[in-house]
Amino acid sequence: MHLTELRIQNLRNIEREQFDLAPGLNLFVGANGAGKTSVLEAAYLLSHGDSFRTHQVEHLQRRGSEPLALFAQVQTRSLTRRLGLLRQGGRWTAKLDGDASAKLSDLFAACAVVCFEPGSHALISGSAEGRRGFLDWGVFHVEQDFAARMRRYRRALRQRNALLKQEAGDDELAIWDEELSQAAEPLAAAREIYMARFERELIPLLDGYLPELDGASLRFRPGWNRAAPLREALEEVRQRDRALGHTTRGLHRADWSLAFVKAPGHEQLSRGQEKLCAIACTLAQASLYRSVRDENPIIAFDDLCSELDAAHQAAALAALIGSGAQILLTGTEIPPALLDRFPARRMFHVEQGRVRAVL
Ligand SMILES: Nc1ncnc2c1ncn2[C@@H]1O[C@H](COP(=O)(O)OP(=O)(O)O)[C@@H](O)[C@H]1O
Ligand SMILES: [Mg+2]
Repeated sequence: MHLTELRIQNLRNIEREQFDLAPGLNLFVGANGAGKTSVLEAAYLLSHGDSFRTHQVEHLQRRGSEPLALFAQVQTRSLTRRLGLLRQGGRWTAKLDGDASAKLSDLFAACAVVCFEPGSHALISGSAEGRRGFLDWGVFHVEQDFAARMRRYRRALRQRNALLKQEAGDDELAIWDEELSQAAEPLAAAREIYMARFERELIPLLDGYLPELDGASLRFRPGWNRAAPLREALEEVRQRDRALGHTTRGLHRADWSLAFVKAPGHEQLSRGQEKLCAIACTLAQASLYRSVRDENPIIAFDDLCSELDAAHQAAALAALIGSGAQILLTGTEIPPALLDRFPARRMFHVEQGRVRAVL
């Protein structure tokens, strides 16, 4: 799939911009602070409802301005869709092909954007929450019922946590243990299947990017011992959970990690190696999306040239351009050697929040 048009209103320093995009490589060039990352943020928001830079919407909304609004036209193999994401009354609302009652999850399902940016090393060394978000974004695009099932799980988790704090009795807790357990099992299974497929895409990339570390592996921890239903694990930790006032087993405790023969923990990776791991994860997720959906996701690369050395930039771009995906690439300058090898289909100059096509 690719974006054919993007309209951005009141996002950071962008007041009102509208431009057409090419199916292949799109370059956004400009000085620091011009608004390049904000363009990628706009595309990412349409796919995630969240930014890779902040979870606080007030940081995204242009200071002292009208509401934040994003519109895009997305072309897939078979159809053209019109997407709108608006911030109104302190919440997001979605519009899909003119239907203002569309659910946010319908919007996100219609637009798949994966992104590598200067903060992406946090996927390796940052919080488990970021890794769960990455995993669940992938599962969401594979499993139709994922969003609704996750809502059910979160509702049950809130109930159980509230009861733990109220020191509710065993009978009442047992009802919610069962509900959580039933909500969790299909989601845990879907995550496991996804992780197994992800591993098959990821390991060859990691071994190619980081041969000096002698072999990569991926480890997934589902959040409880899956040999028995979650209900049993919850029953076991009930006393401890009461003391803590929250639930210590379940989907919300899942995590995954990478290990190498010569670097068993992420603490032994350099920042540069963490970035290569993160880019491998991004590319593996894109390629998994493609193999399941028979459609490329849109791929955003923020400041690629300042983040990776020339050889890895070229390797990443070669893999992507070979796949035919739409690429949104930013930089203060793009090395001529890279442009010779990968000619841009469209180039934009970004300056003080204005986006102008120059090619
Ligand atoms: N909420 C906001 N309102 C207005 N301007 C903002 C807001 N948040 C950030 N900015 C400004 O927007 C500009 C764009 O930032 P960014 O997209 O990161 O630029 P680039 O990636 O080109 O370096 C910066 O100059 C920043 O100071
Ligand atoms: Mg930037």
